[in-house]
Amino acid sequence: MAKITVRVPASTANLGPGFDSFGCALKLYNELTFEEREEGLTFSGCDPQYANERNLAYVAYKAAMAELEKPVGGLHIHIDAKVPVSRGLGSSAALLAGGAMAASALNGGRLDKETLLRITTGIEGHPDNLAPAIFGGLTASLMEDGLPLSMPFPLNPDWQFIALIPDFELSTKMARAALPKSVPHRDAVYNVSHAALVLKALELGDEGLLRKALGDRLHQPYRKDLIAGYDELRAIAMDCGAAGFCISGAGPTLLCLSMEPSMADKIRRALGDLACHWQVLPLRVDTQGTRVVHP
Ligand code: HSE
Repeated sequence: MAKITVRVPASTANLGPGFDSFGCALKLYNELTFEEREEGLTFSGCDPQYANERNLAYVAYKAAMAELEKPVGGLHIHIDAKVPVSRGLGSSAALLAGGAMAASALNGGRLDKETLLRITTGIEGHPDNLAPAIFGGLTASLMEDGLPLSMPFPLNPDWQFIALIPDFELSTKMARAALPKSVPHRDAVYNVSHAALVLKALELGDEGLLRKALGDRLHQPYRKDLIAGYDELRAIAMDCGAAGFCISGAGPTLLCLSMEPSMADKIRRALGDLACHWQVLPLRVDTQGTRVVHP
């Protein structure tokens, strides 16, 4: 029976002011192998608590099979996950994109990436991690009439994306629950203007512009207190000369941006006692998105 392996990158969403819109794919991967079986649903490689039909890879696989008007038969799913769970690096999107892509690939690759984005956004609710996970690179997305639309944006290849990953989790549900139902008009204006210029700073590799444009008033002020160490880490990153510091997605991972290749080492050295709770992981940008790697 048919078997396929897909690789999906991690992603960092929001990038400061681009809440629920901006995202960038990063070179840290989940590999998922789907093997058709006569019957049943089995898993390997994943925590037993996720080895059931609520697993997001399986949920997306089923949704893509429905789109293809194909019956869902038996399946074994092996998950080799490098993207940490509940850390703000797009682990849910990586499972969803992998499941949908696998269903398509096992059926002649009949679903294009726009369709995979539509199916998976229907499950996740917002496209900001899914778009980069599926297409690769830097993307901005919108929702119109309940459907996602994503566009790629140019990105200077010399940006260092340095993920500061803590030893604790933060659920997206809890991080979203911390947000207010409405925001002052001036804060909306602040984010619209900053979001536009963040994209230009990322394109140009302009550290000075990024320092001014990465501000956000829609989510970070409400979430930072959920991340123990946020203020200290921010001070360390800025003292080291990082051009930007923001929460990766819904957190708790914090993201530093710099054009300086040695920035990750500098931050690592500056962490001192905090180093036992925070992993410093420099990541480059993935430009391919979700793809079939085997066969
Ligand atoms: N834009 C989302 C958020 C990303 O910040 O809640 C996490 O799903």
